[in-house]
Amino acid sequence: MTPCTKLTDLPAFGELRALAAALQSTAIEDLLRDQHERATSYCREAAGLHLDFSKQLLDAAALAALIALAEQARLPARARALLAGDEVNNTEARPALHSLLRAPAAPPGLEHAFAAVSDTRARMRDWAERLNQGRHSGYAGQAITDVVNIGIGGSDLGPRLVSGALKAFHDNIACHYVANVDPADLQDTLLELDPATTLFIVCSKSFRTEETLSNALAARDWMLNAGAAPADLDKHFLAITTNLEAAAEFGISRDNCLPMWDWVGGRYSVWSAVGLSCAIAIGWEHFEAFLGGAAAMDAHFATAPVADNLPMLMSLLEVWNCNLLGAGNHVVLPYDQGLARLPDFLQQLTMESNGKRVAADGTALDYDTGPVLWGSAGTMGQHSFHQLLHQGTRPCPADFILPLTTHTGMARQHRRLVANCLAQSRALLVGRSEEAARTSLLARGLDEAEAARLAPHLVMPGNRPHSVISFEAVTPHSLGALIALYEHRTFCSGQLWGINPFDQWGVELGKEISSSILARMDDDAPRPGLDAATERLLQAWRRAQR
Ligand code: F6P
Repeated sequence: MTPCTKLTDLPAFGELRALAAALQSTAIEDLLRDQHERATSYCREAAGLHLDFSKQLLDAAALAALIALAEQARLPARARALLAGDEVNNTEARPALHSLLRAPAAPPGLEHAFAAVSDTRARMRDWAERLNQGRHSGYAGQAITDVVNIGIGGSDLGPRLVSGALKAFHDNIACHYVANVDPADLQDTLLELDPATTLFIVCSKSFRTEETLSNALAARDWMLNAGAAPADLDKHFLAITTNLEAAAEFGISRDNCLPMWDWVGGRYSVWSAVGLSCAIAIGWEHFEAFLGGAAAMDAHFATAPVADNLPMLMSLLEVWNCNLLGAGNHVVLPYDQGLARLPDFLQQLTMESNGKRVAADGTALDYDTGPVLWGSAGTMGQHSFHQLLHQGTRPCPADFILPLTTHTGMARQHRRLVANCLAQSRALLVGRSEEAARTSLLARGLDEAEAARLAPHLVMPGNRPHSVISFEAVTPHSLGALIALYEHRTFCSGQLWGINPFDQWGVELGKEISSSILARMDDDAPRPGLDAATERLLQAWRRAQR
């Protein structure tokens, strides 16, 4: 793929700067009032998802310039190149073919890789059905009832999100997730479980990740200590990995290993065998519907013009807010308890992808890339960090995620959740003027002087830009589409910033230093090479062990 032009060198960027400066003093509420069609014309639909960006701080001229920016960055051609398997990851010389994992048929030229994907899907289906139908027994002859996925980062966050979001679709097997190297994570999980009826999925693309391997070893000890013979371990351990040798060394036979490929990034891998725990949790048909939702988003991404293309528009809004309106962060607010893990998942997806300081050609960038992403499920955040959204000094562009129905059958209570979501969105838009604050204080019985003193504290400037993504219900299909939407938005933003969103060299340094510190922990004598502050903490740890 041809290298990207730097964002600030794209011809439309200069025009966008001028438009952004002019819009800084514009009220979004006025735009909504003056542009009669705005509430509908600043909305788009794809794959069952509805994007409303009418409450973003932009007008028709800014939108047109952003669309021109996307054309100048050749986003449509870059999207097609991604989906066709071009080498988009230039530092590791690889394509990024997560879309192939959910493709209904082999795209031209990718038949060989698709055959491997189909074969793996058949094996996943077999495991999901065998387990849910009680046809797989442990060392004591009892059917497996619980599956524990041991993995971290992309080998944990996606499967954990999907299993948690789709509880209404769960089949017979209960799935659990262990990620942290803190032994408490594994210990707390195992407390509830019976070794005779538990199966572990050791999920690690590299099969070298410290957290996953140490948890997997501890799980193996737990199983052996409970009475399983080494020959029984195959009844209780599966591996998902590209590193079959390391899995075999651990003691997992080839029949129990499902493959990963180096053309899938960890944070984009939930569609592969990394998602096996979800396929087991929700059953194979629902997992196929999940893949189908993502495939529908892929088809839209590949074909829709920029002006209608949800991932491209969301990426343009990200760049607009970050590089032109000065926002350094982005908050995601799912109004659905099942989607509580969505911000965690999106943190890895967006920040591991786009937290980069050099362009794809290695030259230093002089503009910001990926903003800090954070958030939590509504309504909890309303009673904590929403204070900063409404009255803080920094702009925090937001995505509200709003399923319109609930699977709980408790429609009356769900109305309250929806009302809260709409209220927060409206409060961010309109805020409260000093006059309105004063009037409400007077209405509460305060005298003029006290009302005037307190009114400034009750003022909210409003005009906080945000989008609302709504859909009928959280289903396997809508969740697949939603995750794929954010994946493609992340890719497009990476292209606009001119970076490679598919490597993650930044996380590797921490792994290297952690193994070198681990190697010193048994040794009392200070050794050269560590800074004084780290050495002092190491000594404190040694003393605490005595
Ligand atoms: O530490 C970051 C990372 O490399 C992620 O990119 C990846 O998702 C995670 O570790 C887990 O890696 P693996 O699947 O190889 O264990």
